[in-house]
Amino acid sequence: MYNVAIAGATGAVGEELLRVLEEYNFPVKKLVPLASARSVGKEVEFKGKNLKVKELTCEVFEEEEIDIAFFSAGGSVSAKFAPCAAAAGAVVIDNTSHFRMDPDVPLVVPEVNPEDIVYWKKKGIIANPNCSTIQMVISLAPLHKEFGIKRVDVATYQAVSGAGKKGMEELIEQMRALFNFKLDKKVEEREVFPWQIALNVIPHIDKFMDEGWTREELKMVNETNKIMHTNIEVAPTCVRVPVLRSHSEAITIYCEKPVSVERAREVLANFEDVKVIDNPQKNEYPMPVIATDTDYVYVGRIRKDLYEDNVLHFFNVADQLRVGAATNAVRIGLKWIEMEGESFLKDKYGK
Ligand code: A2P
Repeated sequence: MYNVAIAGATGAVGEELLRVLEEYNFPVKKLVPLASARSVGKEVEFKGKNLKVKELTCEVFEEEEIDIAFFSAGGSVSAKFAPCAAAAGAVVIDNTSHFRMDPDVPLVVPEVNPEDIVYWKKKGIIANPNCSTIQMVISLAPLHKEFGIKRVDVATYQAVSGAGKKGMEELIEQMRALFNFKLDKKVEEREVFPWQIALNVIPHIDKFMDEGWTREELKMVNETNKIMHTNIEVAPTCVRVPVLRSHSEAITIYCEKPVSVERAREVLANFEDVKVIDNPQKNEYPMPVIATDTDYVYVGRIRKDLYEDNVLHFFNVADQLRVGAATNAVRIGLKWIEMEGESFLKDKYGK
């Protein structure tokens, strides 16, 4: 059993982590919820008990003898406090982008590259990839093995909860104002998204970088290849849509071998944590309302290109707060326990 901390326990991903740890029966000896000083005294629920939130400090990990620390309180918070947790002898599973491209930090999707977990000791940190990347690589991995992917073109349709609780509130407030014919004022007050998000789509997530690409898009390019150990060309367009939860992606893959829809359906359906919903005659395909609150990547609309033999198109949807964040982190934790747990406890506690 392990002493577990959640840094960012009051946030959108933190709350989901509490739920997923409970559902997966994670071997928790003690759970310590951590957040900013603003939240001290607030309570969160875990396994039917109310736990008081403590302030995230550098010292808390040693004081509470934390073994596993999940971080989802933003990149700058991880930059400051994750090294403290690692120095106090915990393994950090970090949900932010801060350490993802660090060559000494493994970037892990347990269905795709569980073997990279062994490198956790280099810094005591394992990084959880970007939500859009996780659901994409889970569907690319079996197709890459089958057809040899050379290039991926992807357009995302990302839910507002990707921007945290404040993102959800901004959409709901704008929808409410819209129905009261007072949207203009609410749009002026917006904080999270660069434009009105209610009844709109915004082709802009995170900062603009060089040559017109956004940081979110470049995360998908770099992280995909780090996880899959490939040099695939990836060209994403990341778009925010007025959906509360679950990201969707329209994906085109260019392969070395000719593709087959039947074979694609088969290898996807046989892959861990993927469900194929692909029955156009019955209007059956993946959508956010199907994926929300589940732990699967749903794939459908699988079809061959009209012109090229080696090009395949499909649509994928997953609950990004779970598959793209909390569940992936918990799955990393469980895999880490399976691979490293025994020797970790022996080294730390001599048992
Ligand atoms: P708090 O609620 O005290 O602000 P979300 O992604 O939904 O916006 O949640 C962010 C999470 O990260 C919250 O739990 C938030 O705590 C926490 N957090 C944000 N900034 C800090 C900080 N400087 N120190 C500790 N926790 C922080």
